[in-house]
Amino acid sequence: EVPKPYNEPYLSYAPGTPERDKLKQALSELRAKEVEIPVIIGGKRIFTGRTQDVVMPHNHKHKLGVVHKAGPEEVKLAIASCLEAREAWANMPWEHRASILLKAADIITGPERYRANAATMLGQSKTPHQSEIEAVGELADFFRFNAYYLTRIMGDQPSSPKETWNRVEYRGLEGFMFAVTPFNFTAIAGNLPTSMALCGNAVIWKPATSSVYSSYFVMEVLERAGMPPGVINFLPGDGADVGDAVFADPNLCGLQFTGSTGTFQRMWHTIGSNIQNYKTYPRIVGETGGKDFIFMHPTADVREVSVAALRGAFEFQGQKCSAASRMYVPASKWDALREDLLAEVAQIKMGDVEEFDTFMGAVIDKKAFDSITQYIDHAKGSDEAEILAGGRYDDSVGFFVEPTVILTSNPRFKTMEEEIFGPVLTIYVYEDDKLDEALTLCDTTSPYALTGAIFAKDRYAVTMMADRLRHAAGNFYINDKPTGAIVDQQPFGGGRASGTNDKAGSMQNLLRWLSARSIKENL
Ligand code: SER
Repeated sequence: EVPKPYNEPYLSYAPGTPERDKLKQALSELRAKEVEIPVIIGGKRIFTGRTQDVVMPHNHKHKLGVVHKAGPEEVKLAIASCLEAREAWANMPWEHRASILLKAADIITGPERYRANAATMLGQSKTPHQSEIEAVGELADFFRFNAYYLTRIMGDQPSSPKETWNRVEYRGLEGFMFAVTPFNFTAIAGNLPTSMALCGNAVIWKPATSSVYSSYFVMEVLERAGMPPGVINFLPGDGADVGDAVFADPNLCGLQFTGSTGTFQRMWHTIGSNIQNYKTYPRIVGETGGKDFIFMHPTADVREVSVAALRGAFEFQGQKCSAASRMYVPASKWDALREDLLAEVAQIKMGDVEEFDTFMGAVIDKKAFDSITQYIDHAKGSDEAEILAGGRYDDSVGFFVEPTVILTSNPRFKTMEEEIFGPVLTIYVYEDDKLDEALTLCDTTSPYALTGAIFAKDRYAVTMMADRLRHAAGNFYINDKPTGAIVDQQPFGGGRASGTNDKAGSMQNLLRWLSARSIKENL
């Protein structure tokens, strides 16, 4: 049995600590050499020659390397490799599969800790603390807790009356699975293919091209930890080049995706239109967009809300599907909150993530920069909105967007409704005697339901608001910011247009990648 793990403690990287020196050393090592990132199929490195530069978002003239992209030919090879590797992998005692993830967690938190952190800092423009939390802590937590959850699933067995032995065998599915991972979290990128593989499945992993630098690092760690060739095939590439060939194959038996709602819906549609061709109904799990809220009740504490807004909206450059991006404030608290929040936002240091006191790095790439700044321009050009803080942006060195606070008089203003995926927070002030109406707006303004936070000191208000917003968020926070779910503490995922809510890093998620055989034996 895998003993119950603990959440990996974070290092502080405070001035004068040995970890700060080690991280600096890892950063300069990685920065100094360009890498050539291959496609990996059946353990073999393939250099397709169809390359794209890999750059640092906060200094896009600095090239970290190139990535070789897969196309339909490589997908065919990868499917063959999955099908060849699958059986031996599925038949291997599950404890061995679990031990590979436990080993990978020990590598990430041990000898490779600083390079794991540095790779995410450089490749995704995260600060040392952000990278420590997710690319080290959360990734290792996913590996360890999933191994532990599998223990519990395997032990969940039916009853057997006298002279029979009933048992349930939890098997991987026949075929191959597809993991499509996002740029914003190294932990999520590492979790999706490995959670499927842990359950005895063979996987094609398509990492986001914009974060392929850290994904390749994770892939190398998995190889070092003993992941057999062909169990996880690494196929960076363009969505359509890889996806179309994957969805056309009758052996597809699972999709796990984190990314945009539109892409997920297109994938589901393609799978749906091919459904009669598949040998097994593919399992589909998706975690997609969010339009996450903070709702302040008149009894809430101003300082608590201000800190939650600052951290929820601007940490990680707002590039979290959980990031706070719309806020409802009662008129009676608005002046005090405005003063406190704007004073805090004015202190934010944005810039080079290698300076250890930086709070915000750059957004991931030009596409993200253009999309976020269009929303800011829309607000600038509207008489329903006022920019209270930030609003400027500059991509001459890196893709920098200032932390931006918008005040709107229209509760259904575009930036209250649509996912921006950047450091932009829009505030709507409601009249205190229109609380009920404001809660309805909060519940109905966006199609998403990923995360949300309510703030109130009054107990009746807490329960009333939690009831009213029952389906507005899969991860619901009371008197806390709506971000920063911790593996095994707050299982993560949302409903409505935000996804299938199969809670990442939970037994519920693993069960989607297992297909049970009930066995009855007469003794
Ligand atoms: N799990 C992250 C959070 O809760 C988002 O992906 O903030």
